[in-house]
Amino acid sequence: MTSSALTRARFIERYGRFFGSQRMATIQNLGYLLVEAWGEGPYIFDAEGNRYLDLWNVGGVNSLGHRHPAVVRAMEEATRSQDYGSLFFFSEAKGQLAEALARTTPGRLEATLPAVTGSEAIDQAIKLARGATGRTEVLHGDHGYHGTTGFALTMIGAADMREWAEPLIPDFRAIRYGDVESLHEAISERTAAVVLEPVRTDYDGRAPAADYFPEVRRLCDEHGAKLIVDEVVTGMGRLGHLWGIDHWRVEPDILVTAKGFSGGMYPISAVVMRPEILDFWGANPYRNISSYAWSNIGAIVARTAIEETERLLPQANAMGDRLAAVLDDLAVRYPNALLSVRRTGLLYALDFRDEAAGMLFILGMFKRGVVVVASSQNLAVPKLYPPLILQNEQIAEFAEKAEDTLKTLP
Ligand SMILES: Cc1ncc(COP(=O)(O)O)c(C=O)c1O
Repeated sequence: MTSSALTRARFIERYGRFFGSQRMATIQNLGYLLVEAWGEGPYIFDAEGNRYLDLWNVGGVNSLGHRHPAVVRAMEEATRSQDYGSLFFFSEAKGQLAEALARTTPGRLEATLPAVTGSEAIDQAIKLARGATGRTEVLHGDHGYHGTTGFALTMIGAADMREWAEPLIPDFRAIRYGDVESLHEAISERTAAVVLEPVRTDYDGRAPAADYFPEVRRLCDEHGAKLIVDEVVTGMGRLGHLWGIDHWRVEPDILVTAKGFSGGMYPISAVVMRPEILDFWGANPYRNISSYAWSNIGAIVARTAIEETERLLPQANAMGDRLAAVLDDLAVRYPNALLSVRRTGLLYALDFRDEAAGMLFILGMFKRGVVVVASSQNLAVPKLYPPLILQNEQIAEFAEKAEDTLKTLP
């Protein structure tokens, strides 16, 4: 563990202005400032010696917990045995990762375009759908979050994150998430892509009905539109299967993964697609470039994370049932504040009475050493993204601190 005497106050005093003084003051006033010193398993340790149970994990980046031993080991070995590699060239490490994606993703998804972040990969997926179809219209679920680059930002539900960068990209249109009729009315021979998350993670954590994605698939086929599934959060075990869309047994045209793709140890993402989508590139194999995409080190780390996720999933799902029981019990006993809990796999959306109650819960938990966050679009619905290594001990700690916090809510 690294040791540091850097308190929150000293951090602000010494470094605050380098991150924007006013912005840092706002974070401090909110009471949500954490100066990280270390992370291990389900915990973060701050520079003042406090321990936090991390049930956010950056929305699933640390899906295997912090510094998962098998992933750390793979990364250490890779830094000794591998060069970073070059974006124009290939290697066994890259081949094995692409093969692991083709093996685990649904149906005919096989070809991969390497990338670094979720936003970048979403942008690439939309560009590919436009290029492959020769169409421009993009339909996306309302109240979505797909990242903060150009195409992704155009789809963002949170006006606060979008308006200051407008005008954005034309020919994007929101459809009502989970409502087949809304897609039915909007889709046409002009539609290049339909972009959806398997669960609307940044708003209400709602999973669509069992017949939704099969119907979306059918409508996309009927109109020749590409179905892009954003698995940046829902992939890598979050919904109880390796890929969230497996829940609906539907094969998209393009699947995007990032965040937990590397078990939180390496910035790496991927666009996995039906092979014919890349055909329109024709004779030029370099029609998209990203300098840092898929280092050999990142490829080894991500393949290890996939294998660990597959190994841990049965046990994680069993622990997930226990956490669900705790949450349901709290909702029964504190019905004035916590109205209900929605759960899909290891993703929990806590429906609070209003935004004030949601925020009080988040800040109260933080004060007690548990990291939980709200969606950027819905403060009334904090989400839990527990790591797949969750044990009874952490469930008990959460139960005790959540009860303590709920007792204080008006
Ligand atoms: C569903 C979803 N898609 C895409 C992204 C963008 O990923 P990144 O932050 O790595 O660019 C996010 C980030 O939170 C996300 O939640």
